[in-house]
Amino acid sequence: MWLYQIMAEEIFSNKEVSAAYQRGFFPTSKEVLDLILSYLMEKKGKPFELAVDVGCGTGRYTRPLAPHFHKVIGTDMFESQINEALASTSEDNISYHVCPAEELPLDDATVDIVTVAFAAHFFNLGKFMQETARILKPRGCLAMHCLVIPFKIYYRDCSDGLSAIISEAFVFLHKYVDKKIPNDIETQYLDIYKAVPFADKERVTDIMVTFTMSLMELMGLFESICCYQICKEKNPALAMEFMQNTEQRLRDTLGESSDQAIMEIQTTHYCVLACKS
Ligand SMILES: C[S@@+](CC[C@H](N)C(=O)[O-])C[C@H]1O[C@@H](n2cnc3c(N)ncnc32)[C@H](O)[C@@H]1O
Repeated sequence: MWLYQIMAEEIFSNKEVSAAYQRGFFPTSKEVLDLILSYLMEKKGKPFELAVDVGCGTGRYTRPLAPHFHKVIGTDMFESQINEALASTSEDNISYHVCPAEELPLDDATVDIVTVAFAAHFFNLGKFMQETARILKPRGCLAMHCLVIPFKIYYRDCSDGLSAIISEAFVFLHKYVDKKIPNDIETQYLDIYKAVPFADKERVTDIMVTFTMSLMELMGLFESICCYQICKEKNPALAMEFMQNTEQRLRDTLGESSDQAIMEIQTTHYCVLACKS
C-alpha cells in the first residue's frame, strides 16, 4: 500500500476521535449536496449508477447520496472511521472500503461521480487526481467541498462577542495542523482547484448554510475538529484548558440563559466542481 503520512489525518485512526466526529461535526449541508447533484445532471445526466465518496469518514456525506444512485461506495484510510460509518448506515446500496484516496479499488471508467467532503486538503493531490481521472466515466464529475473557518454565530445582542471568541479559538487550534491545511482552507481550495487536471472546472464560493446549536452542541463541534484532537493528543492539559476557557467565555457572553440559548451558526461553504471530458 502507498503510504502518505501527516499527523493531522492520523488522528482519525483513533476510535474515540471517530465517535466524537460522528457526534459533533458540522451538520450535512443540503445546499451543497443539491449543487453537486445538479452539476452532475447538467454535465453528464442520468443514469446515476455509481458515486464514490472519498475520505468519507463516518459517512455523513455518503448516506445522503444513497437515494440518488444505484450504488454508493464510501472510502477512508482509517478503519475507525469506517466502523463508525457502518454503525450508522442502514441503506442497502452503500458499501465502505478502508483504502487511501490515492489508491482506489475501482475499475477504470466505472464511476459517475467522485465526491470529497472536508477531506481533499489531507490528500496527496497529484496521486488522488490521477486515480479520479482513471475511475471516472467520460463526462463523470468530481466535487470537493469544505467550509470557511471561522464561522459566524448569531444570538440576540451577543453575536459580535460570540463570533470573536470563535475566531480566537480557531487561531489557537490552527497551530496544531500541518501548514498546508490552513492555507487550503484560507484560500477556499484555490490550489486544489488548480490541481484538477480537467479543463471543464469551476469553484463555487459563498454557499451560505445556516443551522442552530446549543452551547453544548457547539462545544461538541470543537471536540470533533481534528486540530483540537491533535492538540489533545500532544498536550492534554492545554486542550482541557482550551475547552474550559472557551466554554466559560461563551457562557459569560451568553449570560444567564447560556444553557437554554439556541444560537444560529452561519457557515460559508465552497465547492470545486469538475467534469472529465
Ligand atoms: C474531516 S474528515 C471528513 C470526513 C467526511 N468526508 C465528512 O465530511 O464528515 C477527513 C477524513 O479524511 C480521511 N483521510 C485523510 N487523508 C486520507 C487519505 N489520504 N485517504 C483516505 N482518507 C483520508 C480521514 O481519515 C477522515 O476520515
